[in-house]
Amino acid sequence: MSRLNDPIVLGKLACKNRIIRSATHSFLGSPDGKITDEEISMYETLAKNGVGLIITGHCCVAPGGRANEEQINVYADSCIEGLRRAAETVHAHGAKFVVQLSHAGPRAIDTEDLADVTARELKKNRHAREMTVAEIRAVEKTFINAAVRVKQSGADGVQLHAAHSYLLSRFLDTTFNQRTDEYGGDKEGRFRIVEDIIRGIQEACGDDFPVLVKINCDSKTDDDAYERDLVYMLSRTKRMGVALVELSGVAFLDEPRDKHVYYLSRASRLRRVVEQPLSLVGGIRSLEDIERVLEDGIDMVSMSRAFVCEPDILPKLKAGESSQCLSCNRCFVIAHLHPGMRCVRQRKLMKK
Ligand SMILES: Cc1cc2nc3c(=O)[nH]c(=O)nc-3n(C[C@H](O)[C@H](O)[C@H](O)COP(=O)(O)O)c2cc1C
Ligand code: SF4
Repeated sequence: MSRLNDPIVLGKLACKNRIIRSATHSFLGSPDGKITDEEISMYETLAKNGVGLIITGHCCVAPGGRANEEQINVYADSCIEGLRRAAETVHAHGAKFVVQLSHAGPRAIDTEDLADVTARELKKNRHAREMTVAEIRAVEKTFINAAVRVKQSGADGVQLHAAHSYLLSRFLDTTFNQRTDEYGGDKEGRFRIVEDIIRGIQEACGDDFPVLVKINCDSKTDDDAYERDLVYMLSRTKRMGVALVELSGVAFLDEPRDKHVYYLSRASRLRRVVEQPLSLVGGIRSLEDIERVLEDGIDMVSMSRAFVCEPDILPKLKAGESSQCLSCNRCFVIAHLHPGMRCVRQRKLMKK
């Protein structure tokens, strides 16, 4: 019997089923960083088609931390009204709405003064200097202040983006973090920034305001050691009352097109040793994939590209169809090449 339709309660976050639309930059924000009616309408389509929990694309917590044009800014109170309209729209269809908070770190497009967890040479002859402790604490504060705004909007919670080599993920992983102060070194030091932010949000928004975290479940440097560190990190998040940790991976874009459920073996091993509620994202394209994840005891199932390709994929999957997504990754560029399009399959599928 499928658990896909089973409700789940994660702290104060009650979801009607196990399906998450994983955070996905929509390319639909306004040039001044506001949520648009077009984006809200996309969320409505997802909610109408049965998604239990919708996580926004990465929203930027501070000037100097934007990863994309069209990204939603959550560093000023002017974001609250748009988020409120989005949350109300999603709630009207029985789904939950969580806002992803992110800082791009050295991947920022809106500053020349690039800063990273540890100084490093970047592509295109660019250089990032090492962040000072005062800067780290200031960044922590921007995440906390953003969470306060999200709470004011009526959204159901925040997700910290600590994956995919954006700033927070770089602290966790020795590939990037070679600091020797309190924000580096051992696993406790590398996890400190995330822990400080979670604690700060709980103090500012109340212990019961849902905080979620998206994290890589692997590392390019010492993957076995990283897995051991993750056991520590997930036991800390559990103890701190984090509602859900969504497991992703560093190189999802490089996975073969015919591969499915990229990180299941890692997630299943973690499941056996940690109590933290978990979700898994990456390469989930069919009902069978969803069942495999849930059967292994992972609490929820997250998808991104399947929803970019077909926002109404969920009823189709339940009817036994598979996603039409080619895993071609053109959705990272197509909105700039063909305004109004999000997926290369869009024309073909619209003609059907
Ligand atoms: C166009 C696009 C934009 C994305 N934007 C985000 C984002 O804003 N935040 C994030 O955590 N992940 C983002 N992702 C990654 C997805 O959430 C997901 O982790 C990844 O695509 C693997 O899952 P999938 O195989 O279901 O697509 C994005 C993915 C795509 C395709
Ligand atoms: S552009 Fe390619 S990877 Fe992206 S959703 Fe469409 S088919 Fe999938």
